[in-house]
Amino acid sequence: MGSGTIGQEANSGPPTRGNLTDAHPRAGTVQQAAHDLRQPVAAVLALASAALADELAPERVRRQLEQIVTEAHWISQVIHDMLDGPGALVDDVAVDILTLVRDTVRSERLTCAAQIVLQQKDQTPRYIMAPGTRIRRALANVLVNATRAAGPGGQVKLTERADGNTEVIEVVDDGPGFGSMAVGNGTGIGLQITVQLLAECGGRLQIERLRSGQTLVRLLLPILAHGRAAGGAR
Ligand SMILES: Nc1ncnc2c1ncn2[C@@H]1O[C@H](COP(=O)(O)OP(=O)(O)OP(=O)(O)O)[C@@H](O)[C@H]1O
Ligand SMILES: [Mg+2]
Repeated sequence: MGSGTIGQEANSGPPTRGNLTDAHPRAGTVQQAAHDLRQPVAAVLALASAALADELAPERVRRQLEQIVTEAHWISQVIHDMLDGPGALVDDVAVDILTLVRDTVRSERLTCAAQIVLQQKDQTPRYIMAPGTRIRRALANVLVNATRAAGPGGQVKLTERADGNTEVIEVVDDGPGFGSMAVGNGTGIGLQITVQLLAECGGRLQIERLRSGQTLVRLLLPILAHGRAAGGAR
């Protein structure tokens, strides 16, 4: 019996940078990080789901585990967005805006020291056409700023309503006023991202200093009417 190589292809050999990258465009560092984050997030999801299956877990722990699963699912969606890379065409989906706002507030409450009061008087179901995770990320950025400005013991009030074909989400905090909050760990890009995210949904951002000195941040989004977004929030 001969000792020739079995199953080895003529071109095999150690992979080189050339033959690894030729087939695909080079991913940016954000895409690379997103790619590598999928596994640890999947691990968190798997662990939390396994712990939830334990019928002996007390109710309080179960609720916390459910929230961990919800948050991890959310991170997965954002990672998915990041993997698409900048400028990728992402399909719009109809977003239930009342539920999205409620979920975003619930998530922010887990980590902030301020109190968040949520007012959604009109519970008529309303939808916004938006790609992927855009609206929630935009609102989360505004809420993080507001709760940071309000500080421990402070208050943030979020009011949501429909004004004709426009969904109006107003966030007012009782902090020291726009631009004068204490410097935190801010990287200074949250609002810039928010403006861009809202624009991708046909929406926009307004910032006002109220007579009281308090900051009001308003997110305006076009409500979906008869299967298409109504006119834009301009
Ligand atoms: N609710 C607010 N009250 C007072 N100042 C605010 C408020 N929201 C934003 N600002 C001001 O606008 C600046 C820019 O906000 P932005 O969210 O872009 O950056 P950041 O919060 O400093 O950092 P990052 O969002 O990247 O963590 C803030 O540093 C702050 O001075
Ligand atoms: Mg910010």
